[in-house]
Amino acid sequence: MIDRTTKDRILAATRIEEVVGDFIALKRRGANWWGICPFHQDKRPSLAVSPSKGIFKCFACGESGNAVSFVMKHEHLTYAESLKYLAKKYHIEVVEKEETPEEIASRLKHESLLVVSEFAQKYFQDILWNDANGRAIGLSYFHERKFTDETIRKFGLGYTPTRPHTLTKDALAKGYKEEYLVDAGLCIRRDDGSVVDKFYDRVMFPIYSISGRVIAFGGRTLKSDKSIAKYVNTAGTEIYNKSESLYGIFQAKNAIIKADKCILVEGYADVISMHQQGIQNVVASSGTSLTTGQIRLIKRFTSNITIIYDGDAAGIKAAVRGTNLVLEEGLNVRIVVLPPEDDPDTFAQARSTTEILEYLAENERDFISFKSDLAEADMAADPLSRSKLINDIIGSIAVIPDAILRKEYAEMVAERFRQEVEDILSKITAIRDEQKRQAQLRERSLEAQVPPALSGQNAAEGDFGLEPVSDLPQEMPPAPEEANPYLLTNPVLAVQERELTDYLLRFGSYPLHFEKDMLYGAAPAEQINVETYIRNTLLDDDIVFANRLYRELYDEYFSFAGTLPEEMETRERQEAIAHHFANLENQTLLRESLNIVFDDQELTVRVYRDTLEPEEQRLGETVPKSVIMYKLRITEQQCAEITRAINSAQREGDPARQRELAKTLSLLNKVKLQLSKELRKGSA
Ligand code: CTP
Ligand code: MN
Repeated sequence: MIDRTTKDRILAATRIEEVVGDFIALKRRGANWWGICPFHQDKRPSLAVSPSKGIFKCFACGESGNAVSFVMKHEHLTYAESLKYLAKKYHIEVVEKEETPEEIASRLKHESLLVVSEFAQKYFQDILWNDANGRAIGLSYFHERKFTDETIRKFGLGYTPTRPHTLTKDALAKGYKEEYLVDAGLCIRRDDGSVVDKFYDRVMFPIYSISGRVIAFGGRTLKSDKSIAKYVNTAGTEIYNKSESLYGIFQAKNAIIKADKCILVEGYADVISMHQQGIQNVVASSGTSLTTGQIRLIKRFTSNITIIYDGDAAGIKAAVRGTNLVLEEGLNVRIVVLPPEDDPDTFAQARSTTEILEYLAENERDFISFKSDLAEADMAADPLSRSKLINDIIGSIAVIPDAILRKEYAEMVAERFRQEVEDILSKITAIRDEQKRQAQLRERSLEAQVPPALSGQNAAEGDFGLEPVSDLPQEMPPAPEEANPYLLTNPVLAVQERELTDYLLRFGSYPLHFEKDMLYGAAPAEQINVETYIRNTLLDDDIVFANRLYRELYDEYFSFAGTLPEEMETRERQEAIAHHFANLENQTLLRESLNIVFDDQELTVRVYRDTLEPEEQRLGETVPKSVIMYKLRITEQQCAEITRAINSAQREGDPARQRELAKTLSLLNKVKLQLSKELRKGSA
């Protein structure tokens, strides 16, 4: 538990562009920063970060929030954990309240595994530099491999001696829990219950997360004995998902952004040697074959990947496999094949930075030339392989999401193989159509089980004419068991409730410039502000928002506004409100309020949107109009309900009830008529 004051200090110190910038590349454009959204598949920078508002929003997928929610979502942390992450980043000491043992246990688990991993990294590093054996064996091994001291430190390398169980013993003596040592993958629990080191007699390569925390290790044996595994690696743990991590990403991320390119290699030593030789935008998939998760990690920083694999058959095979995966994610892929005797490590060690860069520039090729060159020798011998090759390349092009890029590649193939572009394009289309058909089949079988999502966006918007009653939604489908509690249960009213919430969040404190004769509704007796007007006019008719989402935002608004000093200046007051809503803890409320305030252009239809007059000058017309519109929608729904009741009374043969209901209906119809007349005043 973090106390209120600490929380406020953390939020005050936090600069959203720095927080988001730690994870994705941001470029400044106007008042905002823009980057590629990490929360959905994208090629274009759709994610906007507003330093002044302290919030981010993706205009493609709609994800939005403040710095805390960004960290929550990105790092899969809880609210409190994210605050702590920010506290650490901004060097703010966190004062914690008393917690129950269970709370401590669950909160600490994740952090404990990180702490234990960090301890192990320091421990292995200490042995490497300060222990006689560590220096004689481990350090001299790295020196033999021509790693400089600076490089060895930068990658946090270490050594763990032959005598097993040292880490276990020393960590336990220092008070680290056995359970965490095991769960972090550092120790192994034997069948008899005893716990031993997983790594021993090895040089150690710590694996860092994107934000620089130690999450796993690879340990290399110094023996050439083939019966001993060359590398021992941490298997999956709660803090380490192999298929979503890349070796070197923390050390490489800035260089990747700068070069707008990520070089992908196979091994730990490859990354380190390239880095030492001045090529720092390098990461490794470390032993696993490249995964989609790893490519998405890279995608946060650049859309250009260059695969450098060993010049041997296995390396080439791995490069081919990686290519389609990269293309499928919408990234550009280039391939460099090294001389057959080299891997990136030996290759880099033997050359200067300039020589390496020159080789890369000369030998980097797109996947079409790469695949064609590979098969060139075969082609002469076997005419079949030519069409096989073309089909293979077309298959690769077909997975590219971007149509323009597909066309460009199709043209390259056409030229290279002297074929008609149209033929190639139609083959690509055929492949994609088939894929689409397959996807639709899968979707359809899913659809049968899932009710369609309800959204306020689908409901009537800003149309001031009367809706025919029959078009109103009848009954909402029943909510599934664990449905979103904020599901819009009344989408028609949601449109108006959102609009009123919008006026509150943006203009609640502003005076309602009304004339003596208001265009809509009756002018209040005295000058009041927007929030008071909205509250009073809704209270007049005992109206409570129908959708929980807006009801809670509404309540939140008035309970916060109530705490503000009365003498506050309008703009300042509204800013305090905006700030409060940009830091809501409830993520659903937060997201919706940010969607509302973030961009003024995104509003539902406004009568005066195209006039140049500032919106706050028009509040005397727009706000009352919005309230009347809302009341009209409510009345329409009531009419529809009563009509249904009359029908059922008729079916049941209850004429008394029928008459009674008809009376109410005619009253409501009068109200409806009056409300719509009121609305037409403006459009006349
Ligand atoms: N690897 C592994 N387990 C193995 C062999 C390899 O996890 N038994 C992974 C390691 O991440 C290694 C990468 O695959 O870095 C590439 O393997 P390899 O080329 O054999 O190792 P190098 O990195 O070249 O190691 P070195 O140069 O020290 O021989
Ligand atoms: Mn090697």
